[in-house]
Amino acid sequence: VQVQQIPRKDFLEQFWDYRPGEHVNIISPTGAGKSFLTAQLLGQTLAKYPDLDVAWQCPKPNDPAMDAWGQALQLREVDSWPPRYWPWQSHAAGHILWPKHIVDDETRNRAHIAETFRAQMNHAYWHGHSITVADDCYLTGVIYGLNTELDRHWIAGRSNKAGLWTTLQKPSGTVQGAVSSFAYDAPTHMFFGRDSDERNLKRISEISISALDPEEIKSLVRHLPVHRIGDDTVSDMLYVDRRGPYLAQIQA
Ligand SMILES: Nc1ncnc2c1ncn2[C@@H]1O[C@H](COP(=O)(O)OP(=O)(O)OP(=O)(O)O)[C@@H](O)[C@H]1O
Ligand SMILES: [Mg+2]
Repeated sequence: VQVQQIPRKDFLEQFWDYRPGEHVNIISPTGAGKSFLTAQLLGQTLAKYPDLDVAWQCPKPNDPAMDAWGQALQLREVDSWPPRYWPWQSHAAGHILWPKHIVDDETRNRAHIAETFRAQMNHAYWHGHSITVADDCYLTGVIYGLNTELDRHWIAGRSNKAGLWTTLQKPSGTVQGAVSSFAYDAPTHMFFGRDSDERNLKRISEISISALDPEEIKSLVRHLPVHRIGDDTVSDMLYVDRRGPYLAQIQA
């Protein structure tokens, strides 16, 4: 198949057509630009739907660029859920939910992070008109044990307009576990960065999209161009919009 190449800016401004409740999944190895793209897509989406209730979960103890993205998107960083407000404080349009890690007790740490994210996901699911960003959803689903919450969003969130946006480094999963197959079947919008791991490519190629041959998807993802930016290898992204299906290569 011929895949049209679209500069990032044009894609964001002219072609990104998100409707509340739709799910998004961005998949690539570390450092390829998943969180960066998430921030760009959120910026466009919030410009169109400013009253969407956004919560961006950060399960990692550190993520250097997060502060800048939060500021650009006017999301308030909080470490607990529900977020605390003084009576005179105006409510932010959305939040970055970054629980503090308990470094000396991993059992308590996992329970604490799981509980914080679970509370936010319950809120987003039942109230709807929301976007939950489960950045690095392998951590959320497998390490923090919230696969059930992720699945509920993927399966039933759309009718409540509760969108789930995920990023994922390792689609094949690991011996510890994996997120469920709904991660591939439920999202309307999928983005793939360059990957050369055969097990990852196999999982990616199994996304069931009529008119798309698994071998073609593999070959496209394997050969996506990458760019050295600082210490990172940032990738062009293969975009799949299930509504067509439409395919495009989004330049970094
Ligand atoms: N399209 C781009 N143009 C310029 N810089 C980019 C682009 N995409 C990503 N970067 C930069 O590359 C670095 C890595 O990007 P990012 O943190 O988004 O990767 P990631 O895929 O989320 O990684 P991880 O899986 O480890 O979370 C960041 O410093 C980011 O600012
Ligand atoms: Mg990231």
